[in-house]
Amino acid sequence: MAGGASTPALAAAVSDAGGVGFLAAGYKTAAAMREDIAATRGRTSRPFGMNVFMPSLDGIDDGAVAAYRDRLVPEAERLGVDLGTPSARDDDYTAKIADLLDDPPAFVSFTFGCPTVDVIRAFQDRGTTVVVTVTSTDEARAASAADVLCVQGAEAGGHRGSFTNSVDGALPLRELLRLVRDLVPHPLIAAGGLATSEDVAEILSLGAAAAQVGTAFVRCPESGASAVHKAALADPRFISTAMTRAFSGRPARGLVNRFLTEHSAQAPAAYPDVHFITAPLRRAAAAQGDPDVVNLWAGEAFRLAPEAPAAEIVEMLSR
Ligand SMILES: Cc1cc2nc3c(=O)[nH]c(=O)nc-3n(C[C@H](O)[C@H](O)[C@H](O)COP(=O)(O)O)c2cc1C
Repeated sequence: MAGGASTPALAAAVSDAGGVGFLAAGYKTAAAMREDIAATRGRTSRPFGMNVFMPSLDGIDDGAVAAYRDRLVPEAERLGVDLGTPSARDDDYTAKIADLLDDPPAFVSFTFGCPTVDVIRAFQDRGTTVVVTVTSTDEARAASAADVLCVQGAEAGGHRGSFTNSVDGALPLRELLRLVRDLVPHPLIAAGGLATSEDVAEILSLGAAAAQVGTAFVRCPESGASAVHKAALADPRFISTAMTRAFSGRPARGLVNRFLTEHSAQAPAAYPDVHFITAPLRRAAAAQGDPDVVNLWAGEAFRLAPEAPAAEIVEMLSR
């Protein structure tokens, strides 16, 4: 859970409780990623994973980005900040891969695409299990060199892990899992809207080898999500989630707030440029306690996310 929620304390607590905790490399430098791995190793001797964003390959329409930027100027003025400037689109991928190959954790997972077969093999040669997130049968086919596929349904909170910025054909988890299960022999991790032990038991009965859970951990004390984000998940004012490009230029599911409602229709498919442009808005709004301009990532089952220690949540899900 890039963007703050994932911490060494959360990953270690999940692994210690019998799950597999994942750290997030997304938006971080390779050096910060290394520090998180060291901190997690200091907290647990159990296996854990690192999640890496693939560099964005989509073409970006600079004119559409400029128009969206202009649209957001009043938001910036209201919050008293300047809009951000688009920066590197590769999320320090090459340096992260080099560092991870040097000293890998037990699992490495990829989202927003699939690494080359050479990179996958290099991790496998080191005994690391390679997971690739897929959101369609085409992506499942393209990721066949991976050891395990994470099948992410449309219910999932946060970014869609699809290989492109497109949201076309987002399938619900159970339907996608059945299709992928019949297509590839890989063990499958199911992700999206899983929040109870009944959900986990059901998804395992449909052929998943494991359940991946994000939103259910956002409110726990080990999560580094902002106070605004944690509070919004339990705030009766927020009644639903929607998929939007408004915050980052890539489809992601979050609580329906004012920013999402007012800007989704105009937001271009331009990740990560839009992510950089809106970053100061989101930061300032979180600091000012204003949930209406924060990307409140949440899966469809967000109402069931408990405020409880991570170990208790793992225990609750595996009951
Ligand atoms: C706050 C948040 C941040 C996320 N960040 C990432 C990420 O960095 N990488 C990734 O592969 N998935 C990310 N996801 C998606 C999760 O991996 C997972 O697919 C999703 O949380 C499952 O659905 P659920 O939220 O309904 O449990 C994120 C989800 C949330 C809620």
